[in-house]
This record gives sequence, structure tokens and C-alpha cells, in this order.
Amino acid sequence: MDKNQSIIKMRGINFSHFENSPILKDLDFEFLKGDKIGFIAPNGSGKTTLFHLMMGLIKPVSGTIEIFGKPMETEQDFSQIRHRIGLLFQDADDQLFCPTVLEDVSFGPLNMGKSKKEAIDISKRTLGFLGLSDFENRITFKLSGGEKKLVSLATVLSMEPEALLLDEPLTGLDTKTRTTITRALTEMNISYIIISHNIEFLKNTTSKTLTMRDGQIYTDKQVHVHIHDHAHVHGNIPHKH
Ligand SMILES: Nc1ncnc2c1ncn2[C@@H]1O[C@H](COP(=O)(O)OP(=O)(O)OP(=O)(O)O)[C@@H](O)[C@H]1O
Ligand SMILES: [Mg+2]
Repeated sequence: MDKNQSIIKMRGINFSHFENSPILKDLDFEFLKGDKIGFIAPNGSGKTTLFHLMMGLIKPVSGTIEIFGKPMETEQDFSQIRHRIGLLFQDADDQLFCPTVLEDVSFGPLNMGKSKKEAIDISKRTLGFLGLSDFENRITFKLSGGEKKLVSLATVLSMEPEALLLDEPLTGLDTKTRTTITRALTEMNISYIIISHNIEFLKNTTSKTLTMRDGQIYTDKQVHVHIHDHAHVHGNIPHKH
């Protein structure tokens, strides 16, 4: 796929949960190959809703979604692309459902038609990459919150997706593990969108930051200024150019 090729294109999206007031209003958005986008916006502004719409888990009231240039109209359209875009759920309990870690991480590759051996090889590699080699036989539901989040990331990466949608990947993680995730993301040559409330993390992993307000997406100027401050020798003195 060429750089600048469209991964997700949304036009005129309107969405509300049942009878509630609208969450997304005439929203336009495009995610291109090579993009490393950060999303920082208040609780309840619609970030997770946006990811779920992108994956076809919920349907817009109106508007269009194209993925890899193809209009997404039916569940079948979405099911054909889901393995190509890895969604890390905000809540790890939505992601993990197998008895052991290795089964959970190999579920995706097996489901995509890989042989058992290939699926296990990829899963072991992915767990190793995230520093989780010792976790293969752990019982998934007994993992701690942070461990679940990391294993969830492994289930996403083992599918070898072309793009990632990460919904608060740092939640519950200790400092060392945060560093592992930051390193993993910067080492991977992959397009992604990260939802996070952690400015420092977004600064290290993304090249543009967006925010949501009144159901629409805007460039986040605050984070931009923040990054800019630290890019200078006299970085402790806030300044603009
Ligand atoms: N299943 C649902 N039914 C009804 N309302 C919902 C549902 N899911 C989310 N909402 C509402 O939609 C709004 C947007 O929720 P969403 O989860 O997208 O926010 P968010 O930006 O991801 O917030 P956070 O930073 O807290 O994760 C919120 O007001 C929330 O209460
Ligand atoms: Mg959310």
C-alpha cells in the first residue's frame, strides 16, 4: 500500500446512543497510511465511540465510512477488513476470552487461517517482543489489570495488522511497562491512532494530536504548544512563535 493511501475515511458521520443527545455530529476524518495520530479529549467526548464506528461494532445514524478505499455498508464488508486493523479495546475484559494467554494470542492468527504451528510461532514471537514470554500458560482471567492490557496488545499485534487503533493503551501500566509499550510503538513501522490522556506518551509516539469537541475533531493546539516548548534549549520558558 502506498504512503498517503487512505486507511479510514469518514464523511458526515452522525451518531447517538439510542435516544440520547448526539455524540458525533457531521464528523469528517481521514486516517492515512503512515499517520501516527494521538487523540486527547475529555471523558465522554466520543473517542471510544469513534473507534467502535470505525470497526463497524456500532453503526452511524448517517454518513459514510470507507476502509482501504472500500465503502463499508454491511457487516460482511467490515468482517473482511477487521483483521487488517487491530483495535485495542479500552477495557481489556472486552478483548480476552480464552482460558490461557497463548490461546488468546493465537486465536486471531488461527482464525485468519494460519496453521496451528504458524499461529503459535507468531504468538510466541509477539509475546517475546512485549517481554511476555513467561506468560504463555498463565490463566487469562487471573491476570492483573496491567497484565491484561499488555496481553490484549499481544492479541492485537499477533494478527499482524496494517494499522492499529489503540484505546488508552497505558491504562493500569507501571512505568517500566509504559516504556516497553512506547518503545514497541516507536520501533514498529505501522500506522496508528492512539487515544490517551497522557501528553508525554503522545509526544513520544505520535506526530500529530487531535482532540474532540461538540462531536467533531480538531487539531489540538495545546499539545502542539507543549511539544514545541520542549523542543528548545530554553524549553522551560513557555513561548510561541
Ligand atoms: N452503550 C452506550 N449507551 C449509552 N450511552 C453510551 C454508551 N456508550 C457510551 N455512551 C455515552 O457516549 C458518550 C461518549 O462515550 P465514549 O465512551 O465514546 O467517550 P470517551 O471519549 O471514550 O470517554 P473516556 O475518555 O472516558 O473513555 C458518553 O457520554 C457515554 O456516556
Ligand atoms: Mg473511551
